[in-house]
Amino acid sequence: MSYTKRESKRKFDEMRKIEAKVGIVPSADGSAMFRIGDTVAVAVVRGPRELHPKFLQNPEKGLLRCHYDMISFSVPDRKRPGPSRRSNEISLVTTKSLLPVLDLKQFPNSAVDVFIQITQANAGTRCAGICAASMALAHAGIPMRDLISAISVGKVGDKVLIDLDKYEEDHKEGATDIPVAMDSNYNVTLLQLDGDISKDELFESLELAKKGCKEIDELQGKTLRDFYGVKKWIIII
Ligand code: CDP
Repeated sequence: MSYTKRESKRKFDEMRKIEAKVGIVPSADGSAMFRIGDTVAVAVVRGPRELHPKFLQNPEKGLLRCHYDMISFSVPDRKRPGPSRRSNEISLVTTKSLLPVLDLKQFPNSAVDVFIQITQANAGTRCAGICAASMALAHAGIPMRDLISAISVGKVGDKVLIDLDKYEEDHKEGATDIPVAMDSNYNVTLLQLDGDISKDELFESLELAKKGCKEIDELQGKTLRDFYGVKKWIIII
């Protein structure tokens, strides 16, 4: 079936408006906000700090723990407070998507906790959470060789497109949602797929994801550079 025009009037390769901030929670070790359209994610870093219970401690390196949650009034139908199978899954994939760029060897027996709260949800929350978490970790001064950016791509009806909103995810013609995260060299750290897609369409989607992630990475980098008043990063790990 043909999906000719997006409800939001965006082009098929056009993301929603993005916005980023760091240092939004002064009491935290690191914090950031990332917004894409009506989806808003806030990430707060606590740590590195001594890991309890002690049997979880690793003398070789620190442990990253991401905790994803949506606040109850982030969606039109009140979301039941507390963890769920969905939030546990997203916490796990978020942790896995960030680990490849982190160097936690400097923090033996410690934990770095990242608390991600979705304050407004209109699809793409795990990707927005990853973008916010990556910036919050950088703001917390955790050694990182790169930032991670993330965007959802996929298919609605017969069209491959970027950044599905909730209307598109629930489209009557069927939708395929593919959240993708990558570093600035396009090394993929997260790839999930909910729906059906052909091999060619998947490659087409991944090209869109590269384009979207590049745009997000530029905004993340600029936001951090502006915050610290520097023109360029020096990679030290
Ligand atoms: O948010 P994301 O696309 O990463 O994950 P999802 O599980 O595919 O959820 C898609 C969307 O469904 C969310 O972004 C919310 O807008 C909505 N949702 C909801 O309305 N109520 C929930 N309890 C969970 C999700």
